[in-house]
Amino acid sequence: MEIILQPSAERAVGLTAQLIAKSVRENPRLALGLATGRTMEAVYARLARMHREDALDFRKVRTFNLDEYVGLPADDPHSYRHYMTRHFFEPVGIPAHHTFLPDGMAQDLDAECRAYEEKIKALGGIDLQLLGIGNDGHIGFNEPLSALMSRTRPKALSPETLAQNGPLFGDPTRMPRRALTMGVGTILESRRALMLVTGAAKADILAQAVEGPITSMISATALQLHPHCVVIADEAAAAELRGTAYYRRVFETEPEWAEFR
Ligand code: GLP
Repeated sequence: MEIILQPSAERAVGLTAQLIAKSVRENPRLALGLATGRTMEAVYARLARMHREDALDFRKVRTFNLDEYVGLPADDPHSYRHYMTRHFFEPVGIPAHHTFLPDGMAQDLDAECRAYEEKIKALGGIDLQLLGIGNDGHIGFNEPLSALMSRTRPKALSPETLAQNGPLFGDPTRMPRRALTMGVGTILESRRALMLVTGAAKADILAQAVEGPITSMISATALQLHPHCVVIADEAAAAELRGTAYYRRVFETEPEWAEFR
């Protein structure tokens, strides 16, 4: 794992978008794993700008989202399908048939989850998986006690997640209590993983996720097992980390980061 510290949320978002853009330019048919949440909105806005101003071309990219709420149709403004269409798919011009999310309205949710895994496999696996982190340490909706080898499946949302995302529903009681989510094992199979964490509210959970022991209580700790994972954090989110001097030196001196300094 590499931890890259940036002086501001804006710079952290900018670097995340640059890394994604570089991957798309290197491989126009990239299989890109995507995340939702407030943190990612700024990343998608930045990529949309690169699409408009720098001709960043997403037409051949295929996307797989981490998760979707159970019981929300695609046109519900709170569904992740709706979020993605609004913030990313339409602004960057990804054809709808290249975009995949698990269907939270499926009659048979287990069959839908199995089919989602098959789809990822059929398209050759995920090249680059974008990730945020929940206040309880979840990646996707892998709530505490998610098996480190779990696959895409229905998952009951934790009280902390209901508290974190409930306000987005206006009336928090309207928030679904379940979601379909890629498993921790599914995420670990992505060729590269890129986690973005910003803001003081995430400082404690970020330190536990990257410097603490691996535990299914905090599914983000599983990223320590990932062979190629980069974590980008702003100073506020990095406040509780112990190894900052080392992380700064890596970014400032390692050749692979030269073009991004
Ligand atoms: C949701 C998503 C997660 C995401 C998290 C972060 O819970 N299921 O994949 O990491 O939001 O949210 P935010 O960026 O709003 O803090």
